[in-house]
Amino acid sequence: MPTNTWTPTSWRSKPISQVPAYPDSDKLRSAEAQIQKFPPLVFAGEARDLKHQLAEVARGDAFLLQGGDCAESFAEHGADHIRDFFRVFLQMAVVLTHGASKPVVKVGRIAGQFAKPRSSDTETIDGVTLPSYRGDIINDIAFTEASRIPDPERLLLAYRQSAATLNLLRAFASGGYADLTRVHEWTMGFMKDTSAYPRFEELAKKIDDAIDFMRALGLTPDNTPSLRETKFYTSHEALLLGYEEALTRRDSITGDYYATSGHMLWIGDRTRQPDGAHVEYFAGIKNPIGIKCGPSLSSDDLNRLLDKLNPLNEAGRITLIGRFGSDKVADHLPRLIETVQQGGRMVVWCSDPMHGNTVKASNGYKTRPFDRVLSEVKSFFDVHRSMGTYPGGIHIEMTGDDVTECTGGGVSAVTEADLSDRYHTYCDPRLNASQALELAFLVAEELRAQRPERSARVAFA
Ligand code: TRP
Ligand code: MN
Repeated sequence: MPTNTWTPTSWRSKPISQVPAYPDSDKLRSAEAQIQKFPPLVFAGEARDLKHQLAEVARGDAFLLQGGDCAESFAEHGADHIRDFFRVFLQMAVVLTHGASKPVVKVGRIAGQFAKPRSSDTETIDGVTLPSYRGDIINDIAFTEASRIPDPERLLLAYRQSAATLNLLRAFASGGYADLTRVHEWTMGFMKDTSAYPRFEELAKKIDDAIDFMRALGLTPDNTPSLRETKFYTSHEALLLGYEEALTRRDSITGDYYATSGHMLWIGDRTRQPDGAHVEYFAGIKNPIGIKCGPSLSSDDLNRLLDKLNPLNEAGRITLIGRFGSDKVADHLPRLIETVQQGGRMVVWCSDPMHGNTVKASNGYKTRPFDRVLSEVKSFFDVHRSMGTYPGGIHIEMTGDDVTECTGGGVSAVTEADLSDRYHTYCDPRLNASQALELAFLVAEELRAQRPERSARVAFA
């Protein structure tokens, strides 16, 4: 229960995992105190809007697209990187909107996705053991003793980078870049030899036609803002609770507490202990939240989590993000769906087809075979079809850059030998732009297959 003893600091008295060992706790307190005085990055009203949109997803009337880097980095913080991500994201959103004939709720893993949970506290390379890299908000990826010491100064850098990223994204979303009349301009040069490209161009032509038709009817981007603008929300894993606490603010309109570091936050599969610190923190904030659900999540724990985190069963509050592995979806998703149904609860069902499909290539690279990513998404749709529930969204690790991190995908498939060419990730392997677009087409086909026949739709109108 979010007891009335909840405060933004009450997590501090609970058992916690994945905490960095800061050598200088005074310095940490002072960095947190500074952030506490900084302006919020997002407003409570925006988080509420997103919750309403997610409630539409829970009801089956919209689709959630959530994606971005596994880990954002301080080094890769340029306008081009953000723009390239945003345009592939827009391409995917257009493909899905068209396929589903439903609005797509757009949520980036961006402008705050800096802290990483690790399976081990240390990392050993060539006989040398050092503390693990935990994300740029905590320490540095370089494999030296000094780099790996957690540095509180990084909290301030992460805040400032998030603010700058969000500023550019807001400008893109409402300043003309997302205008549907510019759909051809979102295609990147290197995508021209990929299998997704001709399909996208074909769709772009259909959109042009639709826009010409609407123009003839008197609807233009100038007089119809929904053609010209989009709503783009931000999300990240709320792992570093000292940072989150410093950005937790009381909304002056409702008196409720909101996390203002991003619109939506999620709890990782490693920090979802029902009596732990992370769940305590999440219980008191009113934002829409995600819960990563891996194979080890028991039905009992899911019930306890939902009791604590959504006691009033508010639609849009909870998104369950399954990440099972392509061969394990069928073993775990049906029982979680039954649990939710038995409790009469409203949730958004979302699939993360990345994290359960990580393998080591023969040359040592951590990779994800694109086929397995596609297969997890297909199983997700199959299970929901057979249970009569609504597959509401996908959550992916992706970049707009032409990287070689996941193997497979279309005509210019990445092979294991290619991995070393452009393996740039700071953490897990991401889909590159053309793999991401190819995935969007697959999801669009699944969504299209679910649509009732036109005659049936007319009959209900
Ligand atoms: N405003 C609508 C939406 O966000 C339509 C739209 C405008 C759109 N630009 C877009 C959709 C870019 C996807 C991508 O859904
Ligand atoms: Mn990851």
